[in-house]
Amino acid sequence: MFSGVRDKVAVVTGAGGNLCSEMAKGLAAEGAKVALIGRTGEKLNAVKQAIEAEGGTAISVIADVTDAEQVRAAGVAVMNAFGPCGILVNGAGGNAKGAITTVNSFVAEELHDEPGELRGFFALDPAEFSRVVVLNTTGTMIPCQVFGRQMAENGGGAIVNIASMNSYTPLTRNSAYAAGKAGVENFTRWLAAYLAPAGIRVNGIAPGFFPKPDRDGPQSDRHGNLTERGARTIDNTPLKRFGIARDLVGTLLWLASDDASGFVTGVTVPVDGGFVANSPV
Ligand SMILES: NC(=O)c1ccc[n+]([C@@H]2O[C@H](COP(=O)([O-])OP(=O)(O)OC[C@H]3O[C@@H](n4cnc5c(N)ncnc54)[C@H](OP(=O)(O)O)[C@@H]3O)[C@@H](O)[C@H]2O)c1
Repeated sequence: MFSGVRDKVAVVTGAGGNLCSEMAKGLAAEGAKVALIGRTGEKLNAVKQAIEAEGGTAISVIADVTDAEQVRAAGVAVMNAFGPCGILVNGAGGNAKGAITTVNSFVAEELHDEPGELRGFFALDPAEFSRVVVLNTTGTMIPCQVFGRQMAENGGGAIVNIASMNSYTPLTRNSAYAAGKAGVENFTRWLAAYLAPAGIRVNGIAPGFFPKPDRDGPQSDRHGNLTERGARTIDNTPLKRFGIARDLVGTLLWLASDDASGFVTGVTVPVDGGFVANSPV
């Protein structure tokens, strides 16, 4: 169906994770040769084995996306194994506890000298804030340099950055993550205009709420029971459910395929059950 993906070299960062492992499998199922990038070999190798079990082709390459030297080395490894990258998915990203407030808005207690468990805006750790912004922004920019260069040398390619609904509307508590993902969406537009003469399209996907299965999270616990925040989220999602990783694959294949989306660049597509479209009053 997506012939523009077959036999392409696809690089997926964050490929050992919940969403990007599924995206890597989706690209492999359409005939792409997939390079899986992350920091943890076991997670990458489990995805590689799953792809190979279905008859696909994959390699694992360990690299921290915020470290230019490591990503350059990953670029050499991909080139040696498969040749130049044709599709890049920038999925490595995330949040950090120290960069998330424990309250939705200011409370007077956060002015106390010892606020206990409370972490308001005034107690956020600037180093943690920076780490989250850098992971999501610079951790997208560096792979775009390394693998985008391979695409430019080879006459073109497609980059898909993973943004978030936080790119459009900062969610309560998540200021650093929202700033980082807003940066991803903005950078996607900038890079799309810059790289167009090189034949490289740059787009993004903004996933809505995709809780990790079997894990306690802000939306649901490991058994799938909703938290209060999770119930409010579903209530404000027109399609009345959370996303599952598979929901992202169709949009990814469309954006990765020159045949399907060859005149599309600089857009970030929400895949969120209508969450960002909704303004409940
Ligand atoms: N889940 C959601 O609801 C949601 C919603 C909107 C957007 N997103 C975005 O979607 C992407 C995937 O999210 P997910 O839920 O699948 O998270 P996940 O399961 O935690 O996957 C993220 C992956 O990124 C890798 N990673 C983290 N830091 C890295 C670094 N410095 N260098 C290389 N790899 C790194 C992690 O593996 P290692 O630790 O082994 O490196 C992990 O496998 C992220 O960008 C996230 O912000 C998620």
